[in-house]
Amino acid sequence: MTYRNTALWLPKPGAPFEVGPAPYTPPAAGEVVVRVRAVAVNPIDDLPGPLYRLALPWLAFPAVVGSDVAGEVVETGPGVTRLRPGDRVLGHAFGVDRSRNRPAESAFQHYAVLLEHMVCPVPESMPLYRAAVLPLALSTAATGLFQPDHLGLALPGPDPADRGETVLVWGGSTSVGSNAVQLARSAGYRVLATSSPHNFDRLRALGAAHAVDRTSPTAVPELLELIGAGPLAGILAIGAGSLRPAVRVAARAPGGRRIASARPALFTRVPGWLARRHGVRVSSIWGGTLKDNEVGPAVYTGFLPAALAAGAYRAAPDATVVGHGLAAVPEALRELKKGVSAQKLVVTL
Ligand SMILES: NC(=O)c1ccc[n+]([C@@H]2O[C@H](COP(=O)([O-])OP(=O)(O)OC[C@H]3O[C@@H](n4cnc5c(N)ncnc54)[C@H](OP(=O)(O)O)[C@@H]3O)[C@@H](O)[C@H]2O)c1
Repeated sequence: MTYRNTALWLPKPGAPFEVGPAPYTPPAAGEVVVRVRAVAVNPIDDLPGPLYRLALPWLAFPAVVGSDVAGEVVETGPGVTRLRPGDRVLGHAFGVDRSRNRPAESAFQHYAVLLEHMVCPVPESMPLYRAAVLPLALSTAATGLFQPDHLGLALPGPDPADRGETVLVWGGSTSVGSNAVQLARSAGYRVLATSSPHNFDRLRALGAAHAVDRTSPTAVPELLELIGAGPLAGILAIGAGSLRPAVRVAARAPGGRRIASARPALFTRVPGWLARRHGVRVSSIWGGTLKDNEVGPAVYTGFLPAALAAGAYRAAPDATVVGHGLAAVPEALRELKKGVSAQKLVVTL
């Protein structure tokens, strides 16, 4: 089967995006093709030219970028039995990932090739524009929380045992943080989170036991007081400047002295080296690595489908639809640069 495809092309780093024809790529073994109905935008989709070369030096141009997809399956590759044409799904698109690196697998086009084990059915009650907020942020949070080279926490499940341990999510109202709070709670951990005060209710609704103002000069002692005798299972540090207070908490709290940072390794190398003097281990997350180990399928096929269907997992943060059609994506990326609070910008296709 073949379909007429259109993509949002990035001719070279820093150049304006262009809408144009793209080949339709049929699915190989373990892949599905999805008619994309909604995409969300992320900072990595629109880096200034030189930063593209630093962050994604392998990326071939012209490129198609974008990670967050929601749509309908149109074709399944050999060996795919869990999904069928017509299924409404969300999925993490890996076109810019080093190990995939091909335009066919990115989000900003009408037909995207996705890895079957990184796709999750979307319940009928959830509009696709809302489902699109999840993939990259979910993957990044799950990588940091569950991969053994990061915090190595127990995986989430439908009826988690209370583990008697605390997880701190610094930057809980970010997209990554909204998923981290829910995932850690679904894995049985007590969750503390930081944000601006106007987002405290949101954090509690997602499962945080307590929320602390990330800008307060007393945030670190407040968190240590809340952790108490602990133990602290680990910290997910999200956002610029999050590592410094996270190290102060990890160095003084009882328990595992591990921090997984959502900042690129470029920014964590020196603070991570300094943290080691306090016995704290810092690792830097690449939100795509879970596709190559047990964490990706455990989250996308084991945990999330039932959790979404039961209403036990929310598509957070809330989606704000900023336009329709591929030509609206660059405008969404410009809006994102102005800054958002507890919302994810989405374009429908
Ligand atoms: N490593 C990876 O693979 C990967 C993947 C995706 C994202 N990221 C990174 O993760 C971070 C969050 O991305 P996102 O898309 O989740 O963000 P987002 O949804 O755009 O985050 C918006 C929120 O960020 C909070 N915020 C602003 N500055 C902050 C700071 N200095 N510290 C903590 N929170 C801050 C604000 O919360 P309040 O209004 O409550 O203050 C706002 O609600 C970014 O640095 C991004 O580059 C990394």
